[in-house]
Amino acid sequence: MQNQNPRPFNFSPGPAALPQSVLERAASEMLNYQGSGMSVMEMSHRGKLFMDIYHHVHQSVRELLKVPANYKVLFLQGGSIGETAIVPLNLLGKNTKADYVVSGIWSTKAIKEAAKYGDIHLAASNEAAWNGKAAGTYLPPSEQWQLRDGAAYVHYCDNETINGLEFLTMPLPASKAVKVVDACSNLFSRPVDISQYGVVYASAQKNIGPAGLTVVIVRDDLLDQAHAHCPSAFSYRLAADNDSMYNTPPTFALYMAGLVFDWIREQGGLAGIAAQNDAKSALLYQAIDASSFYSNRIDASCRSRMNVPFYLADESLNDAFLAGAQAAGLLQLKGHKSVGGMRASLYNPTPLAGVQALVAYMQDFEKTKA
Ligand SMILES: Cc1ncc(COP(=O)(O)O)c(C=O)c1O
Repeated sequence: MQNQNPRPFNFSPGPAALPQSVLERAASEMLNYQGSGMSVMEMSHRGKLFMDIYHHVHQSVRELLKVPANYKVLFLQGGSIGETAIVPLNLLGKNTKADYVVSGIWSTKAIKEAAKYGDIHLAASNEAAWNGKAAGTYLPPSEQWQLRDGAAYVHYCDNETINGLEFLTMPLPASKAVKVVDACSNLFSRPVDISQYGVVYASAQKNIGPAGLTVVIVRDDLLDQAHAHCPSAFSYRLAADNDSMYNTPPTFALYMAGLVFDWIREQGGLAGIAAQNDAKSALLYQAIDASSFYSNRIDASCRSRMNVPFYLADESLNDAFLAGAQAAGLLQLKGHKSVGGMRASLYNPTPLAGVQALVAYMQDFEKTKA
């Protein structure tokens, strides 16, 4: 199938594709934002024009995610890797105990970082085969998480971007444990019940906007338990008390996020976006499962809607597959170096037409090479 889209389809895991209309709007406002004679990048974050942008972005997060009144929405820097340190620095003050679930590469990084700051316990992991499922192909069922009484929180990753594993339903919904979730690659991809969490964090470069911004949602009662050494720039309390402007926020990334949130509203909000995401990933998984030329190794109960890793049965064809895809206008399909193979990331802006084009290309490639 020929790509009718004037731009190629981009399956990057992040920084990822942005909606074309968002890029066009930003381009049209680049040199002279609302008659100010300045681009958003060139204006004070304390001036009215930027404060209006900030309030719009802040309100959009609250509305789209239905953030309850007893939570703060913070905009920080440092990304999700930064949060792997910023979370323990903010939550492990007097109480140094935290539990971590390991389910892939990002949660492994998180537990290693946290171990520098506290008494960290491995609550569950998918590193060994379990119940007939190979290591790394399933998510540890929450009934088996070994949570310690008195731990400050339990941390897990909602969508393992590299491995392609996603919690399709929330683990531990009824548990009193304070849940801290790395939602870097699936926040804003579906409706979510924020009231179930203590802290939710996501860097922007998947479903929110350009890199450089981290959205952090924190329950009010968790704002004041920071370690004395927590850097001021990363203090949840200081950020909350200063409209996330204790230091200069990533202004252009915030502006772009606001445009992306407007675009999400045009798609029917998170319910509309979720329906699109379900349809896109279902189409690709069906195509993979229908073929013996391609395979996806992840257990059906936790296949990510956002990141679909797949392998060619004959891996010597990988380079030819990627070169053909590039020529067909299907970009950035190479799997992460740690797992190999291919990966199609299907974040919100990837249209269904992009997945249809990918499936058509995969079927053509199979016909010529099988
Ligand atoms: C699930 C997850 N966590 C953490 C990170 C790290 O994010 P950052 O590079 O913004 O620090 C990523 C990046 O891809 C991710 O996908």
